[in-house]
This record gives sequence, structure tokens and C-alpha cells, in this order.
Amino acid sequence: MQPASDGYLFYQNRKTLPIIDRAEGIYMWDTKGKQYLDGCSGAVVANLGYGNKRIEQAINRQAQKTFFAYRTQFESEPALQLAAKLVEVSAPHLNKVFYVSGGSEAMEAAIKLCRQYFYAKGEGSRHLFISRTPSYHGSTLGVLGLTAYSPLENPFRPITKAHPKIPAPYCYRCRYGLSRPSCGLACAWELERVIQEQGPENVAAFVAEPIGGASTGALVPPEEYFGIIQQICKKYGVMLILDEVMTGFGRTGKLFAYEHWGVEADIVGLSKGMGAGYYPLGAIMARHEITDLVLDSGGFQHGHTYAGNPMGCAIGLEALQIIEDEQLVERSAQMGAKLKAGLERLAAVHAIIGEVRGRGLLLALELVQDRETRRPFPPATEAHNLLTDEASEEGLVIYPRRPINGLRGDHVLIAPPLIITAEEVDELLQRLDRALGRATRRLLTSN
Ligand SMILES: Cc1ncc(COP(=O)(O)O)c(C=O)c1O
Repeated sequence: MQPASDGYLFYQNRKTLPIIDRAEGIYMWDTKGKQYLDGCSGAVVANLGYGNKRIEQAINRQAQKTFFAYRTQFESEPALQLAAKLVEVSAPHLNKVFYVSGGSEAMEAAIKLCRQYFYAKGEGSRHLFISRTPSYHGSTLGVLGLTAYSPLENPFRPITKAHPKIPAPYCYRCRYGLSRPSCGLACAWELERVIQEQGPENVAAFVAEPIGGASTGALVPPEEYFGIIQQICKKYGVMLILDEVMTGFGRTGKLFAYEHWGVEADIVGLSKGMGAGYYPLGAIMARHEITDLVLDSGGFQHGHTYAGNPMGCAIGLEALQIIEDEQLVERSAQMGAKLKAGLERLAAVHAIIGEVRGRGLLLALELVQDRETRRPFPPATEAHNLLTDEASEEGLVIYPRRPINGLRGDHVLIAPPLIITAEEVDELLQRLDRALGRATRRLLTSN
């Protein structure tokens, strides 16, 4: 068979990518020998960096026993131990664990568990999941209805169930034209208005990323935001589901981002840092009141083949132990503060940086054509991709997206592995500085 002109393989687009040869720590090398500093942990997943010896040993130990056992036929020690460890390190009320293989699966499982709970409870009218715009909760058809990022949604609108949305607390471009603190957090109170509009008896949950990820560019809500959200959810018997797929496992300077505000989610979705790039792994955690009712009413009607397999759980257990032993949560907070200060210094020099956002090692730069008016670049400029390409030239990997519903605006996530050292933070900043210099010249002379 003849290969197509661009080969057999396809993903999202036709972009030709460097071919990975090997990776170690926070560095990667392609087959041509070029070195890259991973400034975004892949897709904010490789929290432990690459080539971790303890993970390698855990894989070897488990490989001597078995890679796989099917969850309806056997339980495994690693699955039991990881569940116990997750419960130990989580908020006290989150005491039940259900394994999945990735972030979209986690969020699918979260909304299905929530729905089944209300169904079993005799509140079957509760079927709406209010989420935020913009947001990203995954690419499968169920959670795509909660995701608000137009290019990903548009082709599938007729076959997804679109759920109601409220604006994300995107203060840099407030949907209401307000500013803090006089805004009174109108974006949080919008949840109450939408619950009332839809009828509280129809609303199952509010779903949000505690700190925004790729769709918003490390959007940190105002301090009071989740207190208001929690209060509204409680008032209307609506569950709070937090998507910690990107923020979990130390990324934001706490083990879980909900700890920043003491917010009590009913269900939490986890993935990415859980397997840290060494295995496709995820989970949901929930209150036992929820799982008890569902299990006592015929069982949770959901599951995937690879869920809770021994190898995945052995890796997840070791990853969590490494985070604890090497104090990577504390390091995320410390290195995050250093990196953020460095990014703010770069913002003082490079006119295209409109805002530096984020917490811990989940940081982002929003790019603008005009800092005074916050005017974004024309969409066709693709400033986020242009800067990413310039960074790649410098041997730095960063993660580009658009903050205005995926249609306009430009941001890049800067989220290196949590093992990054102070010297490596400086090196990241130097490479980014050079990339920004070239991107600024190209963007401001061509527009
Ligand atoms: C917040 C959030 N939720 C869900 C997902 C989906 O995860 P996955 O790509 O593993 O399906 C992602 C992925 O980027 C994410 O950032």
C-alpha cells in the first residue's frame, strides 16, 4: 500500500513534528539531537519529569507479577493501596475512588455518577450540568456538552447535549464590563440566576476547573468565588463537581487546587499528574453517601476495560509517594512563585504580554496587540502558535490556546514539571525571553 504524501498517521492537523528520541528530567531530545526544555510537561501531565528511576523500578516490580487483571474478576493490591492513599491525602469527605484511564473518562464518570445518584434518589428530573464558558472538560461526546471552546464543539453540536453555561471569572476581560471588587462577583452569582431560570429541580451539578487550564490560560478565581459557588450549590441541592484533571497532584502549589479555598466538592475528577505521563490513569473521588446510594440501587452503570488495572495503579501509587517524599507540592509553590516573578519581569519588557496568570506551576501569558486597550491580535495572526514556534526554535516547549472561547485571543501555558530546579527556571525564562523578543518583532511589525 502506498503511504499518503504525509504518511499513515494523523492526529489533529498536518503539522510535521520533531520525532522524540529520549527524555530525562525536564529535557527531551529529538532524533536529530536537538534538546528541548519541557516548559509545559507535555499537556501538563509529566509532573515528575521524564526517566524517573523510582517509577521505572515500580514498573519492573509490578511487571514480575502481572500487568493486567480485569476489575470485575480480580481486585489487586496496587488498586487497593492507591485508593487508600488517595483517600488519605484528600479532603476527609472524599472517601470513595473509582478508576478510569484519562481526564475525559474521569469527567464522564463524574457526571454519570452524579446523574445516577439523583435518579436513584427519586430526583430523576435533575439532568442539567451547569458549567462555565470558556472551559475544557474533555473531548468525548458527553463532556463536550459541558466544554465551552467553540472549535472543538462546532462540528458536534447536533449530536451533543449542550448544557447551560455561566461566564468563567475571566476578570481580564469581564463579560459584564465590571471590575473588582465593585463587581460583587456577578459571574459567581450568575450561577444562582441560571439555576432559577432552568428550575432547581432540573439541575444536577455545577462543574468547574478550580483553576482554569488550557481553555482559559491558568485562570485563578477571585478569593471569594468558590465560597459563593458552594453556598449557591448547597442552597439548591445542586452537586459541586470539580475537574482537577489538570490542577491535581501538586500542579498549583497544593496537592489539590480545592485546598486553596477549602471548597468541598461532592465529586472530583483526576488524571494527568496521577499517572504523570508514565501511564494513562485517572479517577473520580466522591462522598460515600453518593456511591452507597448508587451501589445499593443496582450498581454504577459505567466502566472501562483498563480501569484500575494493577500496572496503572502501581505507577499511580509510586507517583503519589514520590510527590510526598520529594515534597513536590511545596516545590511547585516555591518554583511557581519564582517562575511567575520571572514572567512578570518579562511582561515589563515585552509589549505583547497583556497578563501573567496562574498559581504554583500552572502559569500562563495572555498575549495582546495593545496592552492599554487589551485588544487581542487579529485571529488569523495566530500569535499563540507563532510564539510557540519561536519557543520551539529556542528549544522550549510551551502550550498554546485561545482564551476567548477558542475563537480569539492568544495565550500560552507555562507549566514545567514539578521537579524543576531554580537554575532550570532561569534557563526556561532565558529561552522564553529570546522567543518573546523574536515573536514581538514579528507580531508588532506585521500588524
Ligand atoms: C481540565 C481538564 N479536564 C479534562 C481533560 C481531558 O483529559 P484527557 O485529554 O486525558 O481526556 C483535560 C485535558 O487537557 C483537562 O485539562
